Amino acid sequence: MKEKVKALTDQALREIGESKTQSALNDIRVRVLGKSGELTALLRNMKDLSPEERPEAGKIVNEAREKLEEAIAARLKTLDEETLNKRLKEERIDITIDEKTPQMGGYHPLTIVRNKIVDFFTSLGCIIADSPEIETDYYNFEALNIPADHPAREMQDTFFVTDNILLRSQTSAGQIRTMEKIKPPLKMLSPGRVFRADEVDATHSPVFHQIEGLVVDKGITLCDLKGTLDLFAKQFFGAQTKTRFRPSYFPFTEPSVEVDASCARCGGTGCNVCKGTGWIEILGAGMVNRNVLVNCGIDPDEYTGFAFGVGLDRITNLIYGISDLRTVFENDIRFLKQFN
Ligand code: PHE
Repeated sequence: MKEKVKALTDQALREIGESKTQSALNDIRVRVLGKSGELTALLRNMKDLSPEERPEAGKIVNEAREKLEEAIAARLKTLDEETLNKRLKEERIDITIDEKTPQMGGYHPLTIVRNKIVDFFTSLGCIIADSPEIETDYYNFEALNIPADHPAREMQDTFFVTDNILLRSQTSAGQIRTMEKIKPPLKMLSPGRVFRADEVDATHSPVFHQIEGLVVDKGITLCDLKGTLDLFAKQFFGAQTKTRFRPSYFPFTEPSVEVDASCARCGGTGCNVCKGTGWIEILGAGMVNRNVLVNCGIDPDEYTGFAFGVGLDRITNLIYGISDLRTVFENDIRFLKQFN
């Protein structure tokens, strides 16, 4: 009996030590320790032994069972660890591989230039004012001193939604909304999209961008307008830039001016960018018309102001030398990448 148990145990221990998989190990367990297993069979044979021999035999078998169970558990632990390590190795993610790095985006050229203009004017104390793209006739025209029959309406081919509601054709509508809410002293900048029923070509788009500026306070004069816009031109086109102010007409400013900057490309001698004139028109401006102040409940005898409207697309094209406005709106990634 004792020899049989020893032989069986040694054999089983060897097999356990050599087993390569969890299922092979389980087979051994069933074969040796299972209900009809080899060791269990020996236990059953105890009835053939004398009563004096039985306790000793039972002890031997139980010790063998314990020993085998321990060996199986230890081997199982090793096999489980090996399996885990193998999986960790195989499924390891190599974080040093670069192929899936997402491409970084960049700012759109219009956003770059807009941010620069915003930075410049906020550094002079302007607040940023937003106003709706869908406007009423009152804010886009009427309150800006452009009544229904005014010929100046022809200057801007407007998209009407109804008789009274339209897509704003100029950010100047934001002047009125701001002056209704905030009383002078007031310095504001209002960048935004504007809409006009223009055919698309190299210099026209039905959607484009303006940046409106407005300053109202006691004692504001044309000198303030000139000084501010001259500083602006120098900031954007270089310190050597000169400005000139040509008389113009807008119903909401009086007097009105068109502001030209000396051509940054040729320095004013004339080239294809400035069409040989040496000057480039950069914005429209003027002293706020008295009627506009009155419409906003501001006393024009106490307060004066100046306003300007910059075409953001135009300035952006000038700065980057973009000759076709369409490229700015088409969002071709190859074009946009150049500005990163
Ligand atoms: N709103 C004018 C335009 O769209 C520009 C402008 C703004 C002129 C403010 C004077 C003052 O042409």
